Amino acid sequence: MESLVEKRLFKGIYQGKKVFVTGHTGFKGTWLCLWLKSLGAEVMGYSLNPPTTPNHYEALDLGIHSTIDDVRNRQKLKKVMGEFRPDIVFHMAAQPLVRLSYQEPVETMEINIIGTLNVYEAVKNTSSVKAIVSITTDKVYENKEWVWGYREEDVLGGKDPYSASKAAMEVVTSSYRHSFFNLKEYGKSHETLLSTVRAGNVIGGGDWAQDRLIPDIVKASVAGETVSIRSPYSTRPWQHVLEPLSGYLLLGQKLLEREIGFADSMNFGPAPDEDISVEKVVNILKKYWNRISYKIERPKDILHEAGLLKLDCTKARVQLNWNPVWNAEKALSETIEWYKSFYENNKIESFNNLNDFINDSSKQGEIWTIGE
Ligand SMILES: NC(=O)c1ccc[n+]([C@@H]2O[C@H](COP(=O)([O-])OP(=O)(O)OC[C@H]3O[C@@H](n4cnc5c(N)ncnc54)[C@H](O)[C@@H]3O)[C@@H](O)[C@H]2O)c1
Repeated sequence: MESLVEKRLFKGIYQGKKVFVTGHTGFKGTWLCLWLKSLGAEVMGYSLNPPTTPNHYEALDLGIHSTIDDVRNRQKLKKVMGEFRPDIVFHMAAQPLVRLSYQEPVETMEINIIGTLNVYEAVKNTSSVKAIVSITTDKVYENKEWVWGYREEDVLGGKDPYSASKAAMEVVTSSYRHSFFNLKEYGKSHETLLSTVRAGNVIGGGDWAQDRLIPDIVKASVAGETVSIRSPYSTRPWQHVLEPLSGYLLLGQKLLEREIGFADSMNFGPAPDEDISVEKVVNILKKYWNRISYKIERPKDILHEAGLLKLDCTKARVQLNWNPVWNAEKALSETIEWYKSFYENNKIESFNNLNDFINDSSKQGEIWTIGE
């Protein structure tokens, strides 16, 4: 790995720390492991094989410790965590796709709920763990179809199996925070602070999952096909994967610093005005890579799309001092340029993306870039 200048970030707390990452072979997990490695952490990943071919895990080849196994295998998880003795755990392993959750509801529930339970059980058995950051989603909120952003205190729910499994993960977490990782008992009968983090859909290079707009467009364009865009007017929040990861790492820092008030839930989303239409997105993608091929199919009625869910990120901004850095166009251009380099020059731009993001965050004065 190149320069290790990032070691000073997050007050240098990750340097030399042992970090256990579940879901390390997936899209978000690989970006997190790249960042942790550049911070000087020793990383142990635990998950199944990379979910797609190609994939960011093999492309990066980070040389971290890796165990390929199932989070439903409680004994194995306990054994691997117990032997590694991490300081902090980032739990990301999941069945993360809504559409697949309709086809495989039981498996989705088992992986996302029982898998989470198994991670917490393994932590109970491993006294070295001082912090857990458990990754859920913005879909944990009961969608009231309103225009306001959801706050951490809003009602949980989930109509599709994926959302329900993640809301259930929040309930399981709350129960563990009240029982085994009870805040009043912190420093007495246990030493672990537990948080959940809720972010929406994220974009970035290295994602080849199904039913995600940009990976679908990239895969089709590379295969020489033209993608039909059927909902050009729908708007979505667009956020680069490094944005929530900066939040997860900052929250992890606070937990490791024993700031007990952060053992709670926190939203991480883009600025409220970063919702842009799918049509604008594909135009931006095309501007940066003319190989992108799409055809807009305009619906007759321009109706507001129901079901859009937004996050209110005031808590992260005020309490954690965390802010988004890249706007939608920047996130989209970095993402599409990543795929362009991958397919046309066989180059992996992830480390450069990370450095650019850190530089821009530093210019913006983000707290996690300011050293001691
Ligand atoms: N990508 C997004 O836009 C997004 C948005 C909100 C929340 N999330 C959450 O972030 C996390 C990571 O998502 P992602 O996009 O990187 O998904 P991904 O599909 O790219 O990666 C999933 C990871 O989980 C692992 N995994 C799946 N089933 C497993 C099992 N039974 N045992 C062990 N490991 C298993 C996979 O091997 C992989 O490492 C998930 O918890 C997801 O719900 C993602």
